[in-house]
Amino acid sequence: MVRMSHFFVFEGIDGSGKTTLSKKIVEMLPVPPNINKVWHREPTDGIYGKQIRNFLSGRIELTTKEQMDLFIKDRSESVRNVIIPNLEKHNIIIQDRYIYSTAAYQGNSTLSAEEILEINYREGFPIPNQVFFLDITPEEAAERRALRGGKSEFFDEDQKQNLIYQNYMKILPENTIFLDATQSIEDLVTAVLESIVLT
Ligand code: TYD
Repeated sequence: MVRMSHFFVFEGIDGSGKTTLSKKIVEMLPVPPNINKVWHREPTDGIYGKQIRNFLSGRIELTTKEQMDLFIKDRSESVRNVIIPNLEKHNIIIQDRYIYSTAAYQGNSTLSAEEILEINYREGFPIPNQVFFLDITPEEAAERRALRGGKSEFFDEDQKQNLIYQNYMKILPENTIFLDATQSIEDLVTAVLESIVLT
């Protein structure tokens, strides 16, 4: 019987395919009948998440510090309302972005990615059991975003994506599973499912 809490996080730069893969994993992961699977993402659709989306689409401007504060407020709600209650029920959470995104995206020369990760740890947010990083070069990810179309967002510029990628390399946990994001979705699903052991 699965008793341990399971909290899996998918990270990657924009266009790496986290959302598609994480949703597929929720669908495909075999679990015992008494266990629920929950797909969750940050930024959330809550009040702070909505402000974040206004910023991402260019409707409002925020300093990097203001961005960080907003992402942390959004995360506090997400942890309180979704993550903790589900872990307490021993449900399985498959999450699209978490504390590592704030470190990678908001980390800069004033407040480093490492310092931002530390701030998140001090908030007492639960630590995931496993992080999966969808690895793709910023150039390839930019090509994918261009093909996908849609409105451009705050972090879309190549220079920003390069810095975000470098930040990720500095802060991802040692046991992060790196996945070659250019593989087919079927191969990615197989690789993730093979690495998940529910105990
Ligand atoms: P994303 O998951 O890519 O959403 P969408 O599917 O709408 O594109 O996340 C939105 C953006 O927010 C993405 O560019 C990463 C950024 N972000 C941060 O800058 N800091 C954070 O802490 C998080 C969670 C996301």
